[in-house]
Amino acid sequence: MKNIFISAVALLSVLSVSSFTLKTINPDKDLRYCDKQIRRTLSDLRSKNGNIDYTMMPRDISKNMSSWHCSKAVKEEWCSGFWPGVLWYDYEATKDVKIKNEAEKFTASLSFLSKIPAYDHDLGFLIFTSYGNGYRLTRRADYKKIIIDTADTLATLFNPRVGTILSWPREVKPRNWPHNTIMDNMMNLEILFWAAKHGGKRQKYLYDIAVSHADKTMKYQFRPDYTSYHVAVYDTITGNFIKGVTHQGYSDDSMWARGQAWAIYGFTMVYRETKDPKYLEFVQHVVDVYLKKLPADGIPYWDFSAPDIPDAFRDASAAAIVASALLELSGYLPGAKGTLYEKEALKMLKTLSSPAYRCGKRNTAFLKHSVGNMPAGTDIDVSIIYADYYYMEALLRLH
Ligand code: GLY
Repeated sequence: MKNIFISAVALLSVLSVSSFTLKTINPDKDLRYCDKQIRRTLSDLRSKNGNIDYTMMPRDISKNMSSWHCSKAVKEEWCSGFWPGVLWYDYEATKDVKIKNEAEKFTASLSFLSKIPAYDHDLGFLIFTSYGNGYRLTRRADYKKIIIDTADTLATLFNPRVGTILSWPREVKPRNWPHNTIMDNMMNLEILFWAAKHGGKRQKYLYDIAVSHADKTMKYQFRPDYTSYHVAVYDTITGNFIKGVTHQGYSDDSMWARGQAWAIYGFTMVYRETKDPKYLEFVQHVVDVYLKKLPADGIPYWDFSAPDIPDAFRDASAAAIVASALLELSGYLPGAKGTLYEKEALKMLKTLSSPAYRCGKRNTAFLKHSVGNMPAGTDIDVSIIYADYYYMEALLRLH
């Protein structure tokens, strides 16, 4: 009897979520919008002689521009994997081999990263969004090798004394951050877990360092209320935590929206890969403080302590990352919590899909109103490729 009652409640909550989905967003229609914008971009990228420079990746579009600013695929540019990733997602949605061909050509421009020493932790973003999606959809053996080789390269940044990856070697001296680990780095544990499952002689090592990184981050890179520091600085001799500071947020003690978004996505992924319930429990706290402070439309201010709230810029990229993560996380949480997280994700996607955030004819990106690096004064209130990538990923999770 009790079981029948529970099943009835579960069924009602599932029905209420799917009717909510139907009423509020139409993922297939939104994916068709993405496909249309992608084809407009591809046509813009073609020069007069019909060729595309496949080493130049669409990155951002500032407010007064109508076409992508493209950046060269070099080791210092962290965003270059997202455009090939968007193309792979579009191929997944449309099954159009023309899109697949374009995805392959842009992806190939990143292969050099698997053959050079690590520049920083962004190797994970660069290779897993491009080659990772490419392998998932094609099973090409050469792609698999590039992902595994890159995971081995990323692992060279792991410091066993500290127990985490050195995210930014370049910031060690100028900022006196002897060992720095940024919250974004949580995302790049995924390529380590993947390589640990897919071959190579260092499988156990890759898994162990990913877990060590997650554990140390969980212990030191959050305040008691579960808001996160963008950067944790550690002592390289003792391995001890020295301080938590910001790089892209408003202040050292504020919650930078995209940092918290990376944490939500990252710990959801670590739970998926380890099935250790401590991560599932932890990530719910990280989500709950974010949701508690979130504006009603589901799109965060770029930093939750931005001094000019409610006029502060929003960050659509953080909303897209969180929406995608919550759709996955809700699947691990049967019952009211999972239902709540799914509803919140759908609300975020509904706002992102509305004219307030959609680029439409204005330019060829999907979304407007993201903030890249406010303290540096770069990428403020722009369309940015990683917002589009996670928006499309979230839509595909509903497809
Ligand atoms: N990983 C860099 C950023 O989130 O801006």
